[in-house]
Amino acid sequence: MGKVQIFDTTLRDGEQSPGVNLSPEEKVEIAVQLERLGVNIIEAGFAASSPGDFHSVKMIADRLKDTSVCSLSRSVKRDMDQAWEALKGAVFPRLHVFIATSPIHREYKLRMDQDQILERVDQVVRYGKKLFPVVQFSAEDAGRTEIEFLCRVVDKAIRAGADVINIPDTVGYLTPIEYANIFTQLQQNVPDIDKVILSCHCHDDLGMAVANSLAAVQAGARQVEGTINGIGERAGNAAIEEVVMALKTREAFFKKQTTIKHQEIARTSRLVSKLTGMTVQRNKAIVGDNAFAHESGIHQDGMLKNKETYEIMTPETVGIDESRLVLGKHSGRHAFKKRLEILGYPQSEEQINVLFARFKELADRKKEINDEDLIALVEERVGEGTEYYKLESFQVSYGSHTVPTASIQVRNQVDNTIMEEAACGNGSVDAIFKTVDRMIGEKVELTDFKIHSVTQGKDALGEVSVQLQQDEITVRGRGVSTDILEASARAYIDAINRLKRRKEAMKTVDYSR
Ligand code: KIV
Ligand code: ZN
Repeated sequence: MGKVQIFDTTLRDGEQSPGVNLSPEEKVEIAVQLERLGVNIIEAGFAASSPGDFHSVKMIADRLKDTSVCSLSRSVKRDMDQAWEALKGAVFPRLHVFIATSPIHREYKLRMDQDQILERVDQVVRYGKKLFPVVQFSAEDAGRTEIEFLCRVVDKAIRAGADVINIPDTVGYLTPIEYANIFTQLQQNVPDIDKVILSCHCHDDLGMAVANSLAAVQAGARQVEGTINGIGERAGNAAIEEVVMALKTREAFFKKQTTIKHQEIARTSRLVSKLTGMTVQRNKAIVGDNAFAHESGIHQDGMLKNKETYEIMTPETVGIDESRLVLGKHSGRHAFKKRLEILGYPQSEEQINVLFARFKELADRKKEINDEDLIALVEERVGEGTEYYKLESFQVSYGSHTVPTASIQVRNQVDNTIMEEAACGNGSVDAIFKTVDRMIGEKVELTDFKIHSVTQGKDALGEVSVQLQQDEITVRGRGVSTDILEASARAYIDAINRLKRRKEAMKTVDYSR
């Protein structure tokens, strides 16, 4: 059985998805979960692109113990130096340096000819090797590069010392056979190709990213790059969960293994979806809500007789636990704590105190609290720090012929005072947000608002996610409640808390390097 390395770029290419903006703390949270998932390499960001990215890459590099951490870098010395500064504390640091090689990129973007590209590849890989133990070189838009020239580029990078060669289909243009052919040709024509690991990196513009990645594996790629839930530029990247489940479910066919702990897939997907605000479509393979749901009578009948009639993998394999244990208002602190541990969310005593109080509040309104509700409660608090403001109470009045009005009480936890305000709005949610704005005095723009039902039923928990923008800073906030207006107020206040924390952190972080 051969091995395939999984290179996760959720925090770099994935974060390039329009509208996604993760804080450094949220990126660390995702990186820690990716390590738990068992990916081999995490591309933590593009250190030279901004002080925030540098800071996130460094925090992740300093934190992870078993996973290689890498930064993207253009083919310029300054980028590579910044990458090294951010990554030098990593246990397994890696440089990912790239330059575009296709005719259109050479002519219009870089204004460089083939010889200039070859010379630059040689220089940057040699320089990268002076800094890093492992250098990965990518030929951007390799998919549309003349194959003879691509062979020369790859040969140059190998001679200069590259350890991994990545062949991106940057614009998601190729079909599986065409993409696989590139790998075959490289192996036939580049002399020392067997000294390096060949990597595939596919975009999903024509919906073929996963198929192309698997074709590359069949043709000799030993590293697959992708993102959780397939998020990324435009239509996104190859979805890691789909690639690894295809390799596992069809192991007899591919004869390849990964180090992925499949039971962590569902949780990783949920976390990424929550923190990025990118909802997973219901019918998405592996992690969509319907991925293991059987609706038609014929299918249900088959499933009851033998699950394999309609299921090629079980939900348990990817960490979707069907045995939904239910807690209620009489459940004790111990049962609550134990259930969180079983679900993979161990908490400190201090955290349990806060969460248990929230659980009791909910249990008063919702008869049965199942695993999904519990996870929503825990994840409401992901990426937490100082909670400056806390919702105490609120009241909203509205009707078909009245102007919606909200009045809200918020505790200022810094000086332990109660603040009170009221405002009108275009609708109830707008009135709530205007009241909070007036009370707290932050000038913010609401750039996204999503409501999602955590479970089914009339008393289902509603989860609201908001995105706020203030100058260059974008933050998300989350709130859960059986009442969507309360969930909205919670989400908005959560986002304001995150904004204040971000502003505090920006004052204290030393970006000089
Ligand atoms: O799609 C792409 O070409 C990339 C490179 C920078 C590797 O993301
Ligand atoms: Zn890409």
